[in-house]
Amino acid sequence: MKFFVDTAEIKDIKDLAATGMLDGVTTNPTLIAKSGRDFVEVIKEICSIVDGPVSAEVTALDTEGMIAEGEKLAKIAENIAIKVPLTWDGLKACKHFTSKGTMVNVTLCFSAAQALLAAKAGATFISPFVGRLDDIGQNGMDLIADICQIYSMYPNIETEVLVASIRNPNHIIDAAKMGAHVATIPPSVLRQLIHHPLTDKGLAAFVEDIKKSGQKVA
Ligand code: E4P
Repeated sequence: MKFFVDTAEIKDIKDLAATGMLDGVTTNPTLIAKSGRDFVEVIKEICSIVDGPVSAEVTALDTEGMIAEGEKLAKIAENIAIKVPLTWDGLKACKHFTSKGTMVNVTLCFSAAQALLAAKAGATFISPFVGRLDDIGQNGMDLIADICQIYSMYPNIETEVLVASIRNPNHIIDAAKMGAHVATIPPSVLRQLIHHPLTDKGLAAFVEDIKKSGQKVA
């Protein structure tokens, strides 16, 4: 499973890239606004840190506008994935870009029917939002199961399931069990993945025991 980080904070991206675990980055207009930085500048800097796909979202609502914005964004770096919303206009823009070989991440997916449309539009990634479905009392992971099952029935579908709106490590484990290709993870949740109290306890005991024995390896 590939790990993308869901942020526009350069400090977090650099820190997590140094772990060797980072396969890409996703941003959205909210995350860019939160960074307080210029959209193009911040995307450019992210692309200089991470080799994998970096999703940059268009803000136009019509196909023409999305194409104009997307063309500008695609020029920033070769690893840009244009992010478009799951609307008819977004799907038309998706088809336009993927037929030219530019990666597209179709975002704001909340149903299996929408995911099927994105695959037909040739999306590189489909982004179903699990946390936001959980927030309204639905089960976000059920949607991931449905999409993984449907896509697996059609070997010609190359669209990768990019699980978005992740809130906790269980979302990632459940998505991995279902065979989802990518999880885009907030930095705090990605850092949580390593924690287990028995690892900390075991390590403390090993350190203490070797100290007591008076030995060290080097
Ligand atoms: C990713 O591409 C999405 O923009 C993001 O995961 C949304 O997450 P949120 O529901 O926590 O805002």
